[in-house]
Amino acid sequence: MELFEAIYTRQTQGKVKPDPLPRETIEKLLGAAVQAPNHYKVRPWRFVVLTGDGRKRLGDVMAASQADRKPDLPPEALDKTRALPLRAPAVIAVGVDKPTEEKVLEIENICAAAAACQNMLLAAHALGLGAIWRTGEWARDPKVKEFLGFAPDQHIVGFIYVGYPEFNPEPHQRPSFEDRTVWVE
Ligand SMILES: Cc1cc2nc3c(=O)[nH]c(=O)nc-3n(C[C@H](O)[C@H](O)[C@H](O)COP(=O)(O)O)c2cc1C
Repeated sequence: MELFEAIYTRQTQGKVKPDPLPRETIEKLLGAAVQAPNHYKVRPWRFVVLTGDGRKRLGDVMAASQADRKPDLPPEALDKTRALPLRAPAVIAVGVDKPTEEKVLEIENICAAAAACQNMLLAAHALGLGAIWRTGEWARDPKVKEFLGFAPDQHIVGFIYVGYPEFNPEPHQRPSFEDRTVWVE
């Protein structure tokens, strides 16, 4: 797929089939991710790939964390939470390293990790896959971070849910750049 076509036609696709993705396909996404720019070449992105029962373990952690915070929640609500990571056959959590040198800024590391996420979305689209970038409360949950091997003060910039698309979403027109752009000439 040509680059501009991929950029213009990529759309969030949250509804994907449960069929597992071959490991090589996931590796292609990760390979695309690490082509992103990053300042001082610190490669600040960290990926945790959850497939199969790995997703179930994440769901268990999410439900347990929620039960701790909200002890009155009914079991059905916790079951719903537990099932969230099962919405796609592969979930790629993307965390960000904290800077270890003064010259490296956390905001720039976050920018680089976000660029890696966008590369994965575009690569998924080019491969005919459906993908969605999710965050929500789970990206900030200390128990989720611990399970994924991230420190409490490390950011998770997203969970990329990816699989074979259930259907092709209706194309949507995005607002143009004009009202967000000033030209200084
Ligand atoms: C940082 C970030 C976090 C997001 N988190 C969520 C999320 O938690 N749930 C969700 O449904 N979509 C999430 N999205 C996807 C947006 O909803 C989606 O990109 C937006 O609706 C525009 O649709 P498009 O990607 O098809 O252009 C997130 C996107 C970004 C960039």
